[in-house]
Amino acid sequence: MTSILQFSDIHFGVEDREAMAAVKDYSDSLAPDVVVICGDITQDGKTSEFKSARDWIARFSGPKVITPGNHDIPVYGVFQRLFDPFGRYNKYIAPLSDGVYIDESVAIFPYNTSRGIQAKLDWSLGVVDVADLKRVTDAFSYLPPRVLKLLAVHHPLIYPPNTPLSGDTKNGHAAMDMLGTADIGGILSGHVHTPFVIERTPKKSEILSIGSGTLSTRIRGKPASFNHVEVSKDDVKVTAIDWINGHFVRQETWRKDRAPLQKTGP
Ligand SMILES: [Fe+2]
Repeated sequence: MTSILQFSDIHFGVEDREAMAAVKDYSDSLAPDVVVICGDITQDGKTSEFKSARDWIARFSGPKVITPGNHDIPVYGVFQRLFDPFGRYNKYIAPLSDGVYIDESVAIFPYNTSRGIQAKLDWSLGVVDVADLKRVTDAFSYLPPRVLKLLAVHHPLIYPPNTPLSGDTKNGHAAMDMLGTADIGGILSGHVHTPFVIERTPKKSEILSIGSGTLSTRIRGKPASFNHVEVSKDDVKVTAIDWINGHFVRQETWRKDRAPLQKTGP
């Protein structure tokens, strides 16, 4: 069994302070093997926000896989946005990440879908360079079939229906098709601020798209939350853990047999 905590969209600066004060003790009780943070760690990409994030993340002693979100690019620094969009992220957050996580049954690797500038009006939307992503997946193709491969991103490659935020990740569908040929079993994402699990079936494969909610005050119709993902040799279980009336409460659990998520089975 691998126990994964999936956080996203903490938005330090407008974080839910009560939830954040309680989340470390609660999450420790889930005995995580790895902590995954799917971006939007800060609200405006300010140095003070990154320092708060750094101090909170450093309290988790185990492995961590972290990827930035669109809010982690400085809003108010034109120079940084244009020429060094991930400078502060790299200075304060990247050194805390173990880059990738691999154990005997799960591998998790990050891919950055956020960009400093884009040739369109809405820079908050995600982008995938499919060839670049393929280089990432190729690097893990040596792993044996029993290892469930999970990709950690900020933007869902294909947005889920019935969530309060809609949009398109550039090349998202092409990226999903590529992942369908690359033996990827799941995608961990954030951005929409509500938890979801959707089965995608690109190229006759099956991929679980798993979205985490937010631990910020920028809630969109659902309470602040994070996900607990449990991977056993037989199945994958995802539980959204909501912050309700001053307590964390395990809510909806999705369960999926593991075998269809791997071309050659566990
Ligand atoms: Fe966000």
